[in-house]
Amino acid sequence: LLAMHSHIERILWSEDQISRRVSELAAEISADFGGQSPAPVVVGVATGAFLFLADLVRKIDLSIAVDFVRVESYGFGTVSNGAPTISFDLKVDVNARHVIVVEDIVDTGHTLSKVIGHLKSKGVSSVSVCTFLDKPARRKVHFQLLGEGKYYRGFECPDYFVVGYGLDFAELYRNLPYIGVLKPELYK
Ligand code: PRP
Ligand code: MN
Ligand code: MG
Repeated sequence: LLAMHSHIERILWSEDQISRRVSELAAEISADFGGQSPAPVVVGVATGAFLFLADLVRKIDLSIAVDFVRVESYGFGTVSNGAPTISFDLKVDVNARHVIVVEDIVDTGHTLSKVIGHLKSKGVSSVSVCTFLDKPARRKVHFQLLGEGKYYRGFECPDYFVVGYGLDFAELYRNLPYIGVLKPELYK
C-alpha cells in the first residue's frame, strides 16, 4: 500500500469520507425502496463497482438480490473507446423487477447506456442508478432511467484521472481504500 500510495498526487475522498457518504446513500435507497415487494435487484457493474457495491449493500436494510454484469470500454488506456460490450451477463432473472445499477463512476455515459438498454431488453420494471462518482464534464451520452427509476450519486468528480476504491488504471490501484488523483507521469 505504501508503494501504491506514492503514485498518488492527492487524495480527493478519504476512507472516512467515503464511508459516511455510502451510509447516506444506503439510507436513501432503503427509504425509497422500503415499501416495494419484491425488493430491488442490485446490479454491480464489474469490475469497478465491486468495493462500492460491497460497502453499499451491507448498509441497505432490505432483502435485496445482488448480481453483476461486466461491461468494458477502457481496456488499458485512460479514454473510453465509446463502444462498451457486455462480456458477462446476469444470473438473476430481472424480468418485472426493479433494478438498481451500481457503478463506481459515470464518465462519458456509454457504459450506463449500454447496461440500461440491456436491462430494458430483459423486461425490467424500472432502472435506478447509484454511482459513487459522477463526472458530468465528460458526458457524451445522456442515459435515461427507466420507469420510476431514481438517480443517486456519491460525489461529483472533477475532471482528473482518478483511481482507487474500485477505479483502476490498467487494472491497478483498485484496492486503494481512498480515491485519489494518479500522478500524470505514471500514465503519460
Ligand atoms: C469504467 C468505470 C465505469 C465506466 C465509466 O469501467 O468503472 O464502468 O468506465 O465510463 P463511461 O461512462 O465513459 O462509460 P471500465 O470500462 O474501465 O471497466 P472496469 O470497471 O473493469 O474498470
Ligand atoms: Mn466499470
Ligand atoms: Mg477500468
